[in-house]
Amino acid sequence: MKKILFLALLALVSCKQSSQSEMDRFVDDLMGRMTLQEKLGQLNLLPGGDINTGAAIESQVGELAANGQLGGVLNIKGLDKIKALQEVAVEKSRLGIPLIFGQDIIHGGVTVFPIPLAQACSWNMEAIEEAARIAAKEASAFGINWTYSPMVDVALDPRWGRIAEGGGEDPYLTGLVGQAMIRGYQGDYGKENVMACVKHFALYGAAEAGRDYNTVDMSRWRMFNQYLPPYKAAMEAHPGSVMSSFNVVDGIPATANHWLITELLREKWGFDGFLVTDYASINEMSTHGLGGQKECSVRALKAGTDMDMCSEAFIKQLEPCLAEGLVTEKEIDEACRRVLEAKYKLGLFEDPYRQIDPKRLETDLYTDAHRKAARNMAAETFVLLKNEGQLLPLQRKGTIALVGPLAHDRSNILGCWSTADEPARYSTLKEAMERCVGDSARVLYAQGSNFCADARLQAACAFNRPVERVDDKQARAEALRIAAQADVIVCAMGEMAEQSGESSSRADLNLPDVQMALLQDLVATGKPVVLLNFAGRPTLMGWEKEHVTAILNVWFGGSETGDAICDVLFGTKSPCGRLTASIPQSMGQIPLYYNRLNTGRPVPDDADGYRQYASNYLEVRNGPLYPFGYGLTYSTISYSDMKVEGNQASVTVANTGSRDAVEVVQLYIHDLAAQTARPVKELKGFQRVALKAGEKRTVAFDITPQMLSYYDAEGNEVIEPGEFDIMIGKSSADCDLLHAPYVLQ
Ligand code: BGC
Repeated sequence: MKKILFLALLALVSCKQSSQSEMDRFVDDLMGRMTLQEKLGQLNLLPGGDINTGAAIESQVGELAANGQLGGVLNIKGLDKIKALQEVAVEKSRLGIPLIFGQDIIHGGVTVFPIPLAQACSWNMEAIEEAARIAAKEASAFGINWTYSPMVDVALDPRWGRIAEGGGEDPYLTGLVGQAMIRGYQGDYGKENVMACVKHFALYGAAEAGRDYNTVDMSRWRMFNQYLPPYKAAMEAHPGSVMSSFNVVDGIPATANHWLITELLREKWGFDGFLVTDYASINEMSTHGLGGQKECSVRALKAGTDMDMCSEAFIKQLEPCLAEGLVTEKEIDEACRRVLEAKYKLGLFEDPYRQIDPKRLETDLYTDAHRKAARNMAAETFVLLKNEGQLLPLQRKGTIALVGPLAHDRSNILGCWSTADEPARYSTLKEAMERCVGDSARVLYAQGSNFCADARLQAACAFNRPVERVDDKQARAEALRIAAQADVIVCAMGEMAEQSGESSSRADLNLPDVQMALLQDLVATGKPVVLLNFAGRPTLMGWEKEHVTAILNVWFGGSETGDAICDVLFGTKSPCGRLTASIPQSMGQIPLYYNRLNTGRPVPDDADGYRQYASNYLEVRNGPLYPFGYGLTYSTISYSDMKVEGNQASVTVANTGSRDAVEVVQLYIHDLAAQTARPVKELKGFQRVALKAGEKRTVAFDITPQMLSYYDAEGNEVIEPGEFDIMIGKSSADCDLLHAPYVLQ
């Protein structure tokens, strides 16, 4: 402890008040006293073994920390454990440099918020920032000071399970979500904050065929316009760190891509934090075919990588590489400096035990305020896709049959990547519904089916969340028996939590066989059926759209899902979520996204029938089943009077129904003629507007030059004079949009 006090004294003032030069002086002094092995130690990040997010790795973290050969630990759980390890680093190592502790706090801590894709569907940046702030507060209460979030990978392919972890298909919206999360996590690096890590840099969401870790290959022009903008936007919020991605970019693994990490991220975009690899990705470079650990370490360091997650490559290889002149001391120093700067910003030199306060375990986790925020946010993420005959909201009367494998489950409803969840503390939907209706209505419950007929697949997706198998035939009979007594049937169906997220690509996005058979039998009863679709991605719902009375897409809403669903189902709240990823009609349309190019032979999305020598399919229309930006409410909203005057576009939005509502007014722009082909429309602005029943408002957007710009293949921003089509409306579908021209002189 003496050593650390000495270091802290050198810092002179607290981290918050420190200027850049004080940090520089502090780090200079410290590095002046470090040996090469100690410097390499700072680049070494190893797992604590409590959560597995890759192949399990045996690591002697205690011994390494004592020898100053460890910079940080990830996936370690338990405040006592974290404290003990920090003590080893601070008390036993020669210089007493504290460790940084990382974990995937992706959507909350013990209070679990909706998965990021769902959060994006709220289009509510204040709520997203607040969710991240709460997540940081909880994570820091259990000893974590670094989170591997936000993921800002644009994903156009719902087969890719990790679409659940990002903002969807739109670069602009995904960037805003990332910025909000960074603000929420990092705050001013106080005790209740954590450092953000923007990932996965870059293009990870473009894995071919939606298969995780697969090849990525695209033009620079596409990168700059469609995939890179969210990472660039995230840099404006000054994240402390960035994680590189597993995939290749221009044939070179991102982990060792000098153009990506140094030229673009640092030099062009000005990123000044540290860059960590993804899990064992230096070692995976060998599997990509780039040579042995030694060559790969050299290439990763030279590309601009600072911290090596789980490869133990830098610590083992770089000393001999330096001796052989393959790397320079300057390169090692730069990486070490960036890691030390991060620890300085986090205030760890001032107090290595900043986030170690057992009292906070009692006061800061799963509080009423956190639960309330999670419940409110979850309700805002649900997207009402269909509501025939205004079946919803339901009345609290009569008999409700609640059916489906997600109806009485407290673990799968959370979604993937809830690394700090405590399911025993959460309610199932059944429990929440019984509470909500009290004595006014009767709730009958039956599971109705397994998740899927294939027991092996179900078991594979159940790790950490065991699900008992039932006899499908008997379960279905029981469901039909209670359905016969009901006035309305509510089905809680869809994916298991671990069917999305990392390493969970799917080749078939239809509702699994046994659930579909059950749903069809329930619909055949002729009673009104509400489908609550649980999903970590857009799933196929062609049959459901045609036959089910009402569909609420609830994604995975986190720990307060049950109550939040009841809030919307029974009308305490009106649904206001809007899709941020298109729902395709068929697997064959994937990848499907609204901001596509026109092509030379376009066919309108809603055109019926096959046209010769045009860009369409033989079997289905081009358009999605439900478009980007789409979502209904319990009221009716009308748009009129759209105009562009000067540099302002405006529209009148009226709530013509009898219930209050929140409308997401969306602005899209089409550049009609440019030096390169431009998308048919791109989201450039939106406003969430609360409208009381009968209320009318004018909503205005300033048209800024930035909204009209695009990138050339070198990544330069281009603004060309000419004509633009300005569109405002309730979704990206043409039929929902009003237009007016705008001319940039
Ligand atoms: C994932 C990252 C994650 C890391 C650490 C990797 O397998 O790709 O997103 O942050 O593990 O848990």
